[in-house]
Amino acid sequence: MTHGFETRAIHAGQDAEPHTGAVVPPIYQVSTYKQDAVAMPRAGYEYSRSANPTRTALEECLASLEGGARGLAFASGLAAEDTLLRTVCVPGDHVVIPGDAYGGTYRLFAKVEERWGLAYTPADLADLDAVRGAVRPGETTVVWVETPTNPLLGVADIAGLAGVARDAGALLVVDNTFASPYLQQPLALGADVVVHSTTKYLGGHSDVVGGALVAADAELGERLAFHQNAIGAVAGPFDAWLTLRGVRTLGVRMDRHCDNAERVVAVLAAHPRVTEVLYPGLPGHRGHDAAVKQMRRFGGMVSFRLAGGEAEAVRVCERAEVFTLGESLGGVESLIEHPGRMTHASAVGSPLEVPADLVRLSVGIETADDLLTDLGHALD
Ligand SMILES: Cc1ncc(COP(=O)(O)O)c(C=O)c1O
Repeated sequence: MTHGFETRAIHAGQDAEPHTGAVVPPIYQVSTYKQDAVAMPRAGYEYSRSANPTRTALEECLASLEGGARGLAFASGLAAEDTLLRTVCVPGDHVVIPGDAYGGTYRLFAKVEERWGLAYTPADLADLDAVRGAVRPGETTVVWVETPTNPLLGVADIAGLAGVARDAGALLVVDNTFASPYLQQPLALGADVVVHSTTKYLGGHSDVVGGALVAADAELGERLAFHQNAIGAVAGPFDAWLTLRGVRTLGVRMDRHCDNAERVVAVLAAHPRVTEVLYPGLPGHRGHDAAVKQMRRFGGMVSFRLAGGEAEAVRVCERAEVFTLGESLGGVESLIEHPGRMTHASAVGSPLEVPADLVRLSVGIETADDLLTDLGHALD
């Protein structure tokens, strides 16, 4: 019998430790393992770049939560992305990427992978015809999706894009960082690989940087595992342990993030200084129908634009107090930032440049009334 999501978050990959009965997987802070005879590792562990029991616990749990065959944990989300691209692409290949991808993902393509010989085309992923038009027959090996996107909260129809990728003979990769597996299950909708910055909702406490890949299929999972070891950008044991501790409460945290975000959205939508609220849960949002189809709820990320342009956006970010001015997202504490000057500064001057009047919120799980009071004050 398959257990429910919250049960798997707490138990998958996390059997009690056999020698002591410890109910939490220990932090195996170790690089190497005693072997019983030459080339005879006792429990399959030889060297912690290749595998480490604490990392295995996290990897098995993530595979279970995403409904995939194999999970792999990395030192950061970008390390996971780079390892994935070097596994499934060769120089000369082409990738379709989101027209409003996370700035660091865009920088990876523009400044690193392109020098290696990978071509890319940003496309509006909410428009399936635009994606079909961006695909290069015989050259496109990956359609790379982020949904919802960072920071514009664009939503792409995962099942529709799976069809486009399949027709092109390409893999569909979905960055599920904003939604988390609690709100959205890309592999069940036809994606081949899910990418995470586990730094965000999966870790959930802003105390660890990490990344993950989950492959739908065991053969691709094996190739990714080979490259994970060959390239070596793995999650360390303590980072894997912290991330797994966060994962155990993912469901309850996500529900509270969503509750609070819905209240913040209602206040922003009624505010005279706010010209636009970007949130997939709003019926007027361009991706609302796709979001209703593929998301359990609409998440804790909210962006909005201000009548007073960049100067007002910067001022609101600096006046907020409970919303801490800072990069990153997905932690229990609320964060506010100006994407144009902060997280997405690397996209300035590119097709992925974000509007200067934009403010991004990561709505945390504090008392909702305190968040609303703080925002009201910052917007005064
Ligand atoms: C959607 C998304 N994908 C990937 C990343 C990169 O992850 P990391 O910062 O863990 O390398 C981020 C980081 O902000 C992100 O927001």
